[in-house]
Amino acid sequence: MAIQRTFSIIKPDATARNQTGVIAAKLEEAGLRIIASKRIRMSREQAEGFYGVHKERPFFGDLVAFMTSGPVVVQVLEGEDAVAKNREVMGATNPTEAAEGTIRKLFAENIERNSVHGSDAPETAAEEIKFFFTDAELVG
Ligand code: CMP
Repeated sequence: MAIQRTFSIIKPDATARNQTGVIAAKLEEAGLRIIASKRIRMSREQAEGFYGVHKERPFFGDLVAFMTSGPVVVQVLEGEDAVAKNREVMGATNPTEAAEGTIRKLFAENIERNSVHGSDAPETAAEEIKFFFTDAELVG
């Protein structure tokens, strides 16, 4: 399997609880390299744009409010089969369904306050990386 890049967000529930380091460690332990990282406060426009695919869903307003409620850490991860590897270490979207040892099982509070986001496919990853990073910020 080739080296891939994927996009990750450590969400406001995790930054509020000072869990950015332990979550980054889980990603690194899984063999993913953090080749770019920044702590930002997402604007409403950014959150609405980033999650635009969900705009007809009943949870969209709450999701945007949550993602703008505090700082997040946006990251680019690189490694062999990075998209799938990141999804494996994150665990299921709903923490009640997440496997033991996964980030969401360990840290998520509920399906909305679920600590991390990860791209669902290589094509989505490329778009999501471009949404938050310039090429010059991908420093390796
Ligand atoms: P994420 O991987 O960031 O992608 C979309 C987010 O919407 C998802 O994680 C959840 O945080 C949130 N989400 C998905 N389904 C629901 C739901 N049924 N209720 C509330 N939030 C949801």
